[in-house]
Amino acid sequence: MTKLGVNIDHSATLRQARYRDVAAGSPIIVEPDPVEIALLAEKGGADSITAHLREDRRHMLDADIRALRGKISTKLNLEMACSPEILEIALEVAPDYVCLVPENRMEVTTEGGLDVIGGREKIAGFVEKLSAKGIAVSIFIDPEPSQIQTAKEIGAPMVELHTGAYANAWGDESAKSRELHRIANAAGYARDHGLTVNAGHGINYLNVCELMAVASFNELNIGHTIISRALAVGVEKATAELKKLIRANER
Ligand code: PXP
Repeated sequence: MTKLGVNIDHSATLRQARYRDVAAGSPIIVEPDPVEIALLAEKGGADSITAHLREDRRHMLDADIRALRGKISTKLNLEMACSPEILEIALEVAPDYVCLVPENRMEVTTEGGLDVIGGREKIAGFVEKLSAKGIAVSIFIDPEPSQIQTAKEIGAPMVELHTGAYANAWGDESAKSRELHRIANAAGYARDHGLTVNAGHGINYLNVCELMAVASFNELNIGHTIISRALAVGVEKATAELKKLIRANER
């Protein structure tokens, strides 16, 4: 059965938009709390929680990762770049698995897959250190057999196929079927090479159906659309709750 990994980075993005400069330990209410969001996602059926600790700490903070490790009851999937500083934290926190991703300070979100061929030696070192600690390593790559082959050669047991190009092809039937074909091919190639196959990026309530029709995946990692949908289905209730409070406290 395909698992659902819920990426909660965007709950931290929203928190940081308001509370970036609040000192740790401040008594004011800092919201939303990504840990609370993770626990709610688990209640909804999330099989794992994904959080990306970026080098610029633009959303998730070190304390979030530690708190998630202690409080969630599913699996913790830490996304990280091949950065020695983040590696140290990963080895200390020991998430259930790590997904190695490329990171570029100017990007809004992760833009492309990691180039395992170009960065082979460096990435192999990260796979080795994390694996030695018992952390299963996944590598986020474009759906290309040559990248998959190299991921296998450097000892990664898992890959996450980048589905962003498929998502971006929505509305263009020929580009979409080209991307679906690439993903199906890559998923088959990876499975034939004994790798666990995950997928993620840009998957939403509309495009997930056609994606699942062309290949089977161990896990789909999905974030932005869940947080967006949560806003859409939650604003009415949240507004009504506050309206009730205001009415109840009228002088
Ligand atoms: N997988 C990886 C490796 C990612 O970097 C991201 C984005 O943070 C996702 C999955 C989730 O993408 P989205 O937020 O578009 O669902």
